[in-house]
Amino acid sequence: MWLSPNLFAATRKVDEHAWVLFSDTHIAADRKLIAREINMTDHFAAVTTEVCELPKRPAAVLISGDLAYNSGLTGDYANFTELLQPLRAAQMPVHLALGNHDHRERFWEALLEAKTVSRPLVDRQVAILRAPRANWFVLDSLDKTLATPGALGETQLAWLAKALDANSNKPALIVIHHNPNLDGTSKGALIDTKELFEIIRPRKQVKAYLFGHSHHWSVEQDASGIHLINLPPTAYRFDKESPIGWVLANLEKKSMRLELRCLDRTHKEHGRVVDLKWRA
Ligand SMILES: [Fe+2]
Repeated sequence: MWLSPNLFAATRKVDEHAWVLFSDTHIAADRKLIAREINMTDHFAAVTTEVCELPKRPAAVLISGDLAYNSGLTGDYANFTELLQPLRAAQMPVHLALGNHDHRERFWEALLEAKTVSRPLVDRQVAILRAPRANWFVLDSLDKTLATPGALGETQLAWLAKALDANSNKPALIVIHHNPNLDGTSKGALIDTKELFEIIRPRKQVKAYLFGHSHHWSVEQDASGIHLINLPPTAYRFDKESPIGWVLANLEKKSMRLELRCLDRTHKEHGRVVDLKWRA
């Protein structure tokens, strides 16, 4: 019997604790564009196909910024919107954050549902996503398009502190495009790292801070036990070895299990599983 993809999607069981994490998709208007030896559109099509073929449908897809190729052109977002269609057809909610290669107004113009949805802060792409075992706080660190460092700003930080206090019943997972600058040596990172950590360290419900930006994969912890998860890009890497791909996150009651999926199945990190216990 022939089954349409939509029918398959509708019958596929949902894993409400599984989240797909993408970062740094860098989609250009030109589908054929190659940067650093890879085609970003082909990579994105490959990872979305993989996600659509998972035996169980994940709860949602979350993309942590640098959606657009370089300067957030209208044409980049038009191609990006088209590339999201397989995920939409598979009935997967897609949540988007912005990076320094995005342009907020052009993004909102292109993605109408992102424009019309009511956001906690009207002028930033911010959201709280409520899952059974955690609340995701998606923040907006796009300061100036094409300027490498990012910033949350006082208003967003003040909102975050209040929102965390009002939602302390579940683990909180923070998603920001920019990496933290905890030792002060990373000039292109999050400028207001110190102010952010003054808010999240004492609020023990904060268990993890997930980010992209560096096009690198790593899992570390800060001194207070917050997990620092650097998501790999679906697009290009800046070195010769970092994995390119995505992460499947499974939320447990007191931990999160990450599985790295590399586009290159022969990559030594492909399939690596990391169990992250929540701090008390
Ligand atoms: Fe990037």
